[in-house]
Amino acid sequence: MSTTQTVRVDLAERSYDIVIGPQLLASAGERIKAILPKAKCAIVTDENVAAIHLDTLMSSFKSSGIEAETIVMPAGESTKSYAHLEQIVEAAIAMRLERGDAIVAFGGGVIGDLTGFAAAIVRRGVNFVQIPTSLLAQVDSSVGGKTAINSPQGKNLVGAFYQPKLVIADTSVLDTLTEREFRAGFAEVIKYGLINDAEFYNWLELNWSEIRNGGEARVHAIATSCRAKAAIVTRDEFEAGERALLNLGHTFGHALEGIAQYKSDILVHGEGVAIGMVLAHAFSARMNQSSTDDTRRITNYLKSVGLPTDISYLKDHIKSADQMMEFIAQDKKVSRGDLTFILTHGIGKAFVSKDVPASEVHAFLSEALGG
Ligand SMILES: NC(=O)c1ccc[n+]([C@@H]2O[C@H](COP(=O)([O-])OP(=O)(O)OC[C@H]3O[C@@H](n4cnc5c(N)ncnc54)[C@H](O)[C@@H]3O)[C@@H](O)[C@H]2O)c1
Ligand SMILES: [Zn+2]
Repeated sequence: MSTTQTVRVDLAERSYDIVIGPQLLASAGERIKAILPKAKCAIVTDENVAAIHLDTLMSSFKSSGIEAETIVMPAGESTKSYAHLEQIVEAAIAMRLERGDAIVAFGGGVIGDLTGFAAAIVRRGVNFVQIPTSLLAQVDSSVGGKTAINSPQGKNLVGAFYQPKLVIADTSVLDTLTEREFRAGFAEVIKYGLINDAEFYNWLELNWSEIRNGGEARVHAIATSCRAKAAIVTRDEFEAGERALLNLGHTFGHALEGIAQYKSDILVHGEGVAIGMVLAHAFSARMNQSSTDDTRRITNYLKSVGLPTDISYLKDHIKSADQMMEFIAQDKKVSRGDLTFILTHGIGKAFVSKDVPASEVHAFLSEALGG
């Protein structure tokens, strides 16, 4: 039987615990009650998660004597909208939720981002609890307090930094994710090894099937990822510097997502990140910062996990290097032809580079796309 691990996110009076382990939904009510003894809860979830896991969560709340109502949203990225935000905010007000009460996000990153922003603005901020149910949400979006909805003009353009009071990551609920969603989330786990923890990366290479199967290895992979993100967030909560490292592979990845028009049947976020991390390593090697051996090694590993690694994965959609550059320029503030990029000196040695010539990126992409 796996043990439960707790990761503390240290942010002075905004500090909180991330509890990680199997079958935690059953004790979620008790855990929330322990830190917010009198809170009434609005639980926001999506229809997929509601269909499979909501009963378990509700019975835990019930047996702890917590008064709770549920708000069920449609599944998918388009739910991160003004209209759905309004729906949650108005439902919370109608419930007469007060400052001491709580809004609980029960779902993937979409529900977490949307619900966290609602919690930040209802009565200028009510307590917020995250119960992330996708691998991506457990290792990334539920940690660190970034919340947002999308504007018609772009992703995550409207939001707030708002930390939860508690995060409960039940590693068993991941068993009902699709194979593809699990792998996509795993790209973010690999990212933490690549950023600054070569030892973790080595361990991941040896333990993919154990992590996929659940149990102790899965808890360890998720807890190590949360610890890595928490450490970075503690040092740089508002992304003045180091927090940007978390974007390793994301500049290229976001461009690919844009090219795929954010259509998840073509590309999901983690797949874009997987290709993006390979590109970031290959580009670093081209700039004489790292070795092509590392690029080969991570390519092989990502492939063995079942993730895409090559830009040709989107060959039916990418028109040209110019088109990629347009998306990259949108994602970044381009200052005098230079771009800020996360580059690497090798596995576990990522760094922020603020003066990458756009022309070099263009030349690299032209080559990657076959000249
Ligand atoms: N705030 C942050 O720091 C941060 C970081 C990374 C990503 N994000 C955001 O996270 C979002 C992506 O999150 P995601 O990948 O979790 O997407 P998602 O929330 O859309 O979940 C993916 C799919 O899995 C389903 N699902 C979730 N849990 C399930 C379970 N246990 N069993 C079966 N199905 C389940 C969902 O219904 C959905 O269909 C994006 O909007 C992104 O911008 C935020
Ligand atoms: Zn990501």
